[in-house]
Parts: sequence; structure tokens; C-alpha cells
Amino acid sequence: MAADRVIADFNMSLKDQIVKEKLPNHVAIIMDGNGRWAKQKGLVRVMGHENGTKAVREAVEASAELGIKNLTLYAFSTENWKRPKLEVQTLMKLLVRSLKKEIKTLQDNNIKLSAIGCLKDLPNKAYEELQDVIEKTKDNTNMTLTLALSYGSREEIVKVIKELSLKVKNNIISPESIDESIINKHLYTQNLPDVDLLIRTSGEQRISNFLLWQIAYAELYFTDILWPDFKKENLYKALITYQNRERRFGKTSEQLT
Ligand code: IPE
Ligand code: IPE
Ligand code: MG
Repeated sequence: MAADRVIADFNMSLKDQIVKEKLPNHVAIIMDGNGRWAKQKGLVRVMGHENGTKAVREAVEASAELGIKNLTLYAFSTENWKRPKLEVQTLMKLLVRSLKKEIKTLQDNNIKLSAIGCLKDLPNKAYEELQDVIEKTKDNTNMTLTLALSYGSREEIVKVIKELSLKVKNNIISPESIDESIINKHLYTQNLPDVDLLIRTSGEQRISNFLLWQIAYAELYFTDILWPDFKKENLYKALITYQNRERRFGKTSEQLT
């Protein structure tokens, strides 16, 4: 019996091994390694970013096809503004170009676009294009794709504390009423569930200021694949690993069954 099972698994494609009923509700990805991908090929860093956009399509399409409801991609951090001016400008141009180009992919797959982060810091053109695609896809229901742009978790938490302090000061809420759910409602991610699976590519094993509050109980998955090389199969592998983990949320294993 066990041997039969192994043979069956061997013949099954990665995609077939994913259990539909156990899909994570929210997958977040730290898309890292564009620069090193380019360097390995003797290319300039921005070529890595350029090729990274293909991997974005792979991840988005694979997620939508499988039925994942929420996919959040870390595209640009608050710290990334410190990069060389030319690289930042190219990243912003790529964002505008990708939004224009991928609106069709979003509509064809019934995907709603959303964005989190300090969006007012984006160049006007990028901000406007982003708002345009968000508006055009707002009624799509298959999946929510959230781009983290000029996003930093600490900036987000500071923003929440300022908003709540002001509400306390103006007697809109009492300090005693502050709980996890109120905090959730003031985060950029207020419309998203907690992250179930966090993937980071490129071999780095750190969070880099991404969704610190929201990943409290996320399963972490690190892969050495550099982001431009990320294919649908890489997402399938992450999902299979995720589905084979036991999420205990502080309880004992016995309590779960
Ligand atoms: C991720 O790739 C893209 C962004 C952070 C914008 P990197 O540009 O960080 O690539 P590496 O880490 O230098 O290889
Ligand atoms: C994290 O990658 C940010 C994004 C992927 C957008 P970085 O490449 O900026 O992270 P560090 O600096 O290596 O931690
Ligand atoms: Mg990096």
C-alpha cells in the first residue's frame, strides 16, 4: 500500500499534489534576487528587474488558477528608496509599464488589484497608473493581488499608532477599547486576512520590514531560486511544503485532531 502511494505520488505532477481544500487563504512573497540574477549573467541590475516582471506573471497566474484568494507581492520597500537614483527610476518606470501591460491579465483572470504602502511617495505617473488599474479591476472577485509599494511594516505600525492616538485624543475611542481587531482595521492590510504562507526567494532568510504584524503565524518558506527564475512549479513546491506542515497556533498536536 505504502509503495503504491509512493509510485502514485511519483507519477503525479506537482500541481496535482496540491490539496485544493487546504490552500492558504493568503500568500505573500518577498520577490528577491533580481540584482544577483543579472550579475550572474553579466548584465546590469535593472535587467534583473525587467526579467523579474515575468516571474510576477507566473506567480499571479498560478495563484489565480489554483484558487488562492489573496496574493501579496513585496515590490518596493521604504528602504529601497535609498538605492541609486537610476535604479529607483527604472523600477518606477517598470511599474508603470507592467501595470499598462498586465491589466489584460488581471481582467482575463478576474483579479482585483490593490496596493499597500506609503503610496503618496510614488512618482505621480506611477501613482496615477496604479489608481487607474485599481479602479478598473475593483469589481473582480477571483483573487485580490496586492502590491506592496513603498511599503515598510514599521512605517505602517507608526501610522496606526498615530491614527489611534488621535482618535483617543478626540474621544472617538477609549484606550481600553484598543484591541487586535482595532489595530487590524487601521493597517494598510485592513481588507486582507493574516498571511498563511510567506515565501522569500534568493536564499536570504530575513523579513526585511515586510508585514511584521500580519505574519505572526505565517509559515515561512525560503528558496534559493532567484526571483527572475521563479516559475509556477516553484509556487507549487512551496504550497506542497506548506500543506505538509502542522500549524498549531500555540496548541498541542493532540488538540488539533
Ligand atoms: C528584489 O531584487 C527587487 C527589489 C528589492 C526591488 P533585488 O534588487 O533586491 O536583488 P538582489 O537582492 O540585489 O539580488
Ligand atoms: C526586500 O528586498 C524588498 C523587496 C523585495 C521589495 P531587499 O533586497 O530590499 O532586502 P534586503 O535589503 O536584502 O534585506
Ligand atoms: Mg535584494
